[in-house]
Parts: sequence; structure tokens; C-alpha cells
Amino acid sequence: MRVYNFSAGPSMLFEETLTETRDNMLSYKGSGLCVAEMSHRSKDYSDIHAEFIETLRELMQIPENYAVLLLQGGASQQFDAAPLNLLRNGKADYVITGHWSERAFAQAAPLGDIAAVATSKESVFTYIPELPPEIFREGTDYVHITTNNTIYGTRYTVLPDVKSPLVADASSGILSEYADISKFGVIYAGAQKNIGPAGLTVVIIRKDLIYDDLPRYCPKMLKYSTQANADSLFNTPPCMTVYMSLLNLRQLKKLGGISAIQKINEEKASLLYDFIDNSDFYKNNVKKKDRSLMNVPFLSPNADLDKKFIKEAASDGLLTLGGHKTVGGMRASVYNAMPVEGVKKLIEFMKKFERDNKN
Ligand SMILES: Cc1ncc(COP(=O)(O)O)c(C=O)c1O
Repeated sequence: MRVYNFSAGPSMLFEETLTETRDNMLSYKGSGLCVAEMSHRSKDYSDIHAEFIETLRELMQIPENYAVLLLQGGASQQFDAAPLNLLRNGKADYVITGHWSERAFAQAAPLGDIAAVATSKESVFTYIPELPPEIFREGTDYVHITTNNTIYGTRYTVLPDVKSPLVADASSGILSEYADISKFGVIYAGAQKNIGPAGLTVVIIRKDLIYDDLPRYCPKMLKYSTQANADSLFNTPPCMTVYMSLLNLRQLKKLGGISAIQKINEEKASLLYDFIDNSDFYKNNVKKKDRSLMNVPFLSPNADLDKKFIKEAASDGLLTLGGHKTVGGMRASVYNAMPVEGVKKLIEFMKKFERDNKN
């Protein structure tokens, strides 16, 4: 029996992705091989690799002057790779909107003059700070933001007005709503939320930011130019993950692409937020204008009830609803593959839980 998985990642995949993977498991297109067993230089895999990049370009409307790199190491590796590749003058600004931007900042900090120019830490990251242009320093190589904050349930609805290239960790927001790619220098994302299974990291980078000559030593495998010059086939890519991610993108395209999924995501998020806002049992502490479409944290009246909620929801087929350990409570991650019915079922459960536990 399938369940609704509200995990922050790895998360649900479209059912079509799973059934097509199953159908091709023993013999992909009559080859007698699973994609996981194929040479990454074979015609079948080369076609998958090219179609994945092409489909991502089409869905996200990625302009010609941007390269798409298929890497490994997760977004966490990009916390190192981005500064190693982009710090030409040794100076960058970071906006701190949660755990992951703190990590990105900490990994960049030893590499140059790295400043945290704004933070919402004092309020446990319940909002995106105001970012007037004058807080950003002159002469930086880039400004780093986290577009969607997975743990705290916030997202940028307006991008900061910056002169330097904007570098964005979009791990939990990518493909969920329209983004104007030309506003960014680099976008990176681990696959395991809206793209596909874990193991693939997508980097979308303006081509003039890919340098062959870097001012400091950078391991060859972390250099953007290494994979950019080899069409992301410098070494063996995660072939099976790329294949399943392609199936996921094909399904997204079939559903009508980003504008269609954005509408569905807005519907799911407003069902949940409206229900929580109209309840005197549950609450969400995030500033309304900054609320995430993908991750909805909420609390019941006390920590014991939170624990009970998570346990009883799991027995009802609503899985992985625990909040991150730093915030507690619950969190419903409702990525692209979570159907509206899953959210409706969660709300029905929340109503019942409230009835049974309200005194
Ligand atoms: C916004 C964000 N950045 C980075 C990460 C870390 O990603 P990875 O595990 O791919 O290194 C996560 C993981 O949940 C995330 O949500």
C-alpha cells in the first residue's frame, strides 16, 4: 500500500516515475539491461543524459548563456564549490535565513572576506529579512541566498536587488514555481526533493562565471569547468538517478510544466495555511508574506501532543511529519509529487486529532 510521505527529502516521486522505472528495470528499451548496469558512454544513457538537460532547460526556461551541470555531492558540496569557483576578489555576502544558509556561510568563511549581511536568527528564522540594496557591500564576487528554507518554512517571494551575481541554494524550491533564471548567476539544488532521487546535484550557471583559471587551488572534481568542458561526463554520473529524474521531469511536463504545478502547489499550501490560521489548536509562526509553498511547519498546543500527532498520523498512512529537531513540532513537506488528496487527507486527520485531544 502506498502512503503519503511528507518528508523534507528524500521525498515522494510521481507514481508514474516509479511504475515506469519498474517496467524498465530488467530491460530498458529491450536492451536486456537496467539503466543502472549500463555504460555511461552507451547510446541509451547518452540519450537519457541529453534529454534530462534539455527537459530541465525547457521547463525552467533556462537561457542559452547558462550551462546545466549534473554533479554529485549534494547541495552541501556546493557550499564549498561555489566559493572555491567564484571568489575571484575574495569577497562575498551571505544572507542567513536558516540552518542551510548558516552551513553555506560557515563553509565559505575560511576562504575569504565573507560577510553575513542580514539574518532572521533572532526570531528563529520565521521571516526573510528586509534586504535594501545598501546592505550589500561593493566589489563582492557574489551574494548568496537560500531561496526556500526547508526547516523553517520560509521563501523569498522577491529577490534582493544586487549588483553582484546572485548565487542561490534552491534545493527545496526548484521547479515548484516560476523563477526568472536571468536574475541569477548560479542556482544549485540537490535532486532529492523536486527533481528525483538523491545522488544528483544540478548546477545552473551563467557561462561567463565558469573559469578555467582560478586564483587558488581548487580540487579538479570541484571545479565547474571540469564538468562544463565534459558535458558532465568527466567521470561516471549517477546514471540511475538521472534516469529516474528524467522520468519525473517528463511527468512534470505532462502535467503542464511549472505554471501548472505552481497552481497546484499554491492550492495545497493555501488549503493547509488557511486551515491552520482558522484553528485555535494549531499554529504556524512564519510571517505570512514569506511562507513557503513546499514546507509547512506547524505546532499543536504542546510538545507531548506533537509527539502523539506524529505517531498517530504515521499509523494513518501520513508519514514523516516530525519537524526538524531545531524547531520541534510538525512539518508537512508538500513537494511537487504530493497530490492535493494527500493534503486533504492530512487536514482531515488534523481535524480528527483536534477533536480527540482538545480539552
Ligand atoms: C535548502 C537546503 N540546502 C541544502 C541541503 C543539504 O542538501 P544535501 O543533503 O543534498 O547536501 C538541504 C537538505 O535538506 C536543504 O533543504
